[in-house]
Amino acid sequence: GYQTRIYSSLLPPKLSTDSSRWESEALACMPSRNYNYIYGAAGQGRTQRANLDAFSRYRFIPHVLSGATVRDLSVTLFGKKFPSPILVSPIGVQSIAHPQAEVASARAAAKLNVPFILSTASSTNMETVAEAHAAASISVDNTEFTKPDRWYQLYWPKDDKLTVSLLRRAEVSGFSVLVVTLDTFSLGFRPADLDQSYLPFIWGEGCAIGFNDPVFTEKYSKQLAGPMLSIFQKLKLLVKKSRGSISLFFALLWWHKKVFKSLAWISEVFSGTHKTWEDLKLLRDCWNGPIVLKGIQSVEDAHLAIKHGMNGIVVSNHGGRQADGAIASLDALEKITADEVVRKSNLTIMFDSGVRTGSDILTALALGAKAVLIGRPYIYGLALGGQEGVEHVLQCLLADADITMANLGRKNIAELDRRILNLEIVDG
Ligand code: FNR
Repeated sequence: GYQTRIYSSLLPPKLSTDSSRWESEALACMPSRNYNYIYGAAGQGRTQRANLDAFSRYRFIPHVLSGATVRDLSVTLFGKKFPSPILVSPIGVQSIAHPQAEVASARAAAKLNVPFILSTASSTNMETVAEAHAAASISVDNTEFTKPDRWYQLYWPKDDKLTVSLLRRAEVSGFSVLVVTLDTFSLGFRPADLDQSYLPFIWGEGCAIGFNDPVFTEKYSKQLAGPMLSIFQKLKLLVKKSRGSISLFFALLWWHKKVFKSLAWISEVFSGTHKTWEDLKLLRDCWNGPIVLKGIQSVEDAHLAIKHGMNGIVVSNHGGRQADGAIASLDALEKITADEVVRKSNLTIMFDSGVRTGSDILTALALGAKAVLIGRPYIYGLALGGQEGVEHVLQCLLADADITMANLGRKNIAELDRRILNLEIVDG
């Protein structure tokens, strides 16, 4: 089990097992502007802090002599059985944390058979990530469990043709579940990014490397970047003739092209794109697998997800990066899972925002989440040690969850419910 693995190592680990240190150690190893983007939250960070603080309000009541010497952490999501109840959340532009970016985190997730959710805003294009993920999955023993799964997260573009193109490519690349993020149609007010005017650069990097959908390229090479492209083409010729002398200018132009493209991309997905519940029909029509809505915080929206035939939701506030002052995601989860209509439905409820320890994972499961997405911690692992760093973080979180389950006297995930929480104190 996860406990044995972590305690059987003869040498101390390269990275700390203390999750609170991953953040500070990542800060020390990366440029501050990159770190600020990852760590940063909306506004004054009230919701980000609330996400973390909420976990301290829910305490467990341990039981003894219950035979929990061996635990089973497995869960079934959309008919597939996985060894543990966690997923790797979609996080964009991972090249700012490590040059191997999503390839490293996808491989780490595959190795541990934790579903990997790829962001639309990835630094690496989806086909490359899918290939790396599939290759890393081959050696994973899947006699008892499903083979490692990859899901695709959609930032839903304005243009339906682009949406359809992305979904086609994701399907062909073997992504099995569609996660549609609904809380980011307008990028949050994030002072840490705004103060350094760093955002265009990040998206420039992300778009240039990863976001290269043919529909998008065609549309924006004509519109925004059109005039730039023609100068670009002429310069290319010039450079061929007089090598070197204008290469600096050429590099500058190339950089500007990236920024142009990135601004086009922001306008396509993060500029108040107008979508309604009825528009989900398009996604249903062109996606064969399960659809999960990410960014749900209210009981009303959970009802609407059920009404519109969605298969799951991720109760998430984007790690406090969108609406500052919004409630802690854990409190939203508590309300949603307590609702009778939701409980009687087949909606698969997942959770993220603020999970930092094994106990946090168990708290969310006890409150009714079927599985939990890991956010910032694995990116700190990526920054600190690439694929190995991500594996380390996931393994620590799983060992912590496993050992805490033992010490709470719970044998399996089904035994984790509200009865193990000291809820009267929360209500009081
Ligand atoms: C994110 N998140 C995110 N979500 C998404 O659906 N698509 C994306 O591209 C991104 N990108 C992204 C970048 C960075 C740097 C962060 C920190 C977060 C949100 C992510 O999936 C998840 O909801 C949060 O990270 C959860 O909050 P915590 O646990 O990190 O606080």
